[in-house]
Amino acid sequence: MQQLLRNTASQLDAAHSVHPHTDLRKHLDTGPLMITRGEGIHVFDENGNRYLEGAAGLWCASLGFGSERLGEVAKKAMTELGYYHNFRGASTVPAAELSAKLAGIAPEGMDKILLQSSGTEANDTALKLVWYYWDAKGMPARRKIISRTGAYHGTGTLTSCLTAKANFHAGFGLPFDGFLYTTMPYHYRMAEPGESETDFSDRLAAELEAMILKEGPETIAAFWAEPVMGSGGAITPPEGYFPKIQAVLDKYEILFVADEVICGFARTGEMWGSQTYGIRPDMICCAKALSAAMLPVSAVIIGARVFEAMLAQSDRFGTFVHGYTYGGHPVACAVANEVLAIYEEMDLVGHVKSVSKGFLAGFEALRDHPLVGDARGVGLIGAVEIVADKPTKAMHEPGQKVMAQFDAAARKRGLITRLIGNRAALSPPQIITASEVDDMFARFRGALDDVACIVK
Ligand SMILES: Cc1ncc(COP(=O)(O)O)c(C=O)c1O
Repeated sequence: MQQLLRNTASQLDAAHSVHPHTDLRKHLDTGPLMITRGEGIHVFDENGNRYLEGAAGLWCASLGFGSERLGEVAKKAMTELGYYHNFRGASTVPAAELSAKLAGIAPEGMDKILLQSSGTEANDTALKLVWYYWDAKGMPARRKIISRTGAYHGTGTLTSCLTAKANFHAGFGLPFDGFLYTTMPYHYRMAEPGESETDFSDRLAAELEAMILKEGPETIAAFWAEPVMGSGGAITPPEGYFPKIQAVLDKYEILFVADEVICGFARTGEMWGSQTYGIRPDMICCAKALSAAMLPVSAVIIGARVFEAMLAQSDRFGTFVHGYTYGGHPVACAVANEVLAIYEEMDLVGHVKSVSKGFLAGFEALRDHPLVGDARGVGLIGAVEIVADKPTKAMHEPGQKVMAQFDAAARKRGLITRLIGNRAALSPPQIITASEVDDMFARFRGALDDVACIVK
């Protein structure tokens, strides 16, 4: 043990830490990128290198990477009441306050809050509530869930089935039956040649309706969507998409669950992505920026018709039988309450709207780069698609390892982005300033130039 602890943290990590979404064998040799401290929107590695964290970690560190103010709040909360649960009618002041605050900023008509600890838990819970709802309505055969190709909603057993990426299913014997996938709204790749965004949206709505009719509307429980698909590639929906999808769902009385784990808290320029895109969800799942990612806390925001059904089920069975030990954890909730207070003080939505102008202009300006096939975003989330040939949208040969080269070049220039296939996404902390946005795009363009020199 003594010998072990004399090793560096990186060596300890390589030897003992199992990492998600990581090449496990390679990690045994290379070890981690060891991040040791944060300051504003920047993080530092163990060698003192400073990175502008253009991905806000995992789309989540809305207030950056360190906060004395939130540290004080956590300390006070942990000292006063380090833990209590919310089972069997118990509660804590921070949890009650957080529920009320969330209800206050939720879209109209949604004022019931079920506190959880992660995005996966929120989505998994919402899935159970969908089935609970249809059971309460006397239609338990409505079980099927429609998600979208490329979707990401977590990696739990059921949420992996909502997640519609083959690599998340391979080797796990997933997905289970009853999960259907309609085409992702990815205009750049999925539209027919010459098809406008509006026509593409019409086609996707028609495809959804055809799927519902083929399966039988009486078997479909809910439609699941992120307003902007994050891990699917920071895909912004085409013009008119959500109103058209919503109309189809309304026609067949299908529930709409909006996964706002990334989009919530002004990521798309309004408090909720549902507001940016005119979605009327029955439930919203939120997490990440709810606590500025400083502590694990998430929530399902529940609309009236689902809560009515929950009341009926509670009457029928005596209680609502669902919950987690850490759901509504008082320390996490105290921190989330302070985060929401900070959002109000800084006028989060107003700030994002203001810095978004430079952010979107940054993408626009990148479109002329020889390696850039597409570049677009909304609010403070967007992506650049790197291609070998602009007119045909052909990608580089895998052997060229262009994205790995881009990643290395960006890091060398002190920038961390999120790579998804041949897309490099940006979703910086919401506290980013206009000049930091310019700095981020300068580094991004520099990294593209570096790669262009190599692959020429
Ligand atoms: C849209 C979305 N839903 C759900 C999740 C899962 O959240 P967690 O990792 O907190 O379980 C994520 C995580 O990135 C996400 O982006």
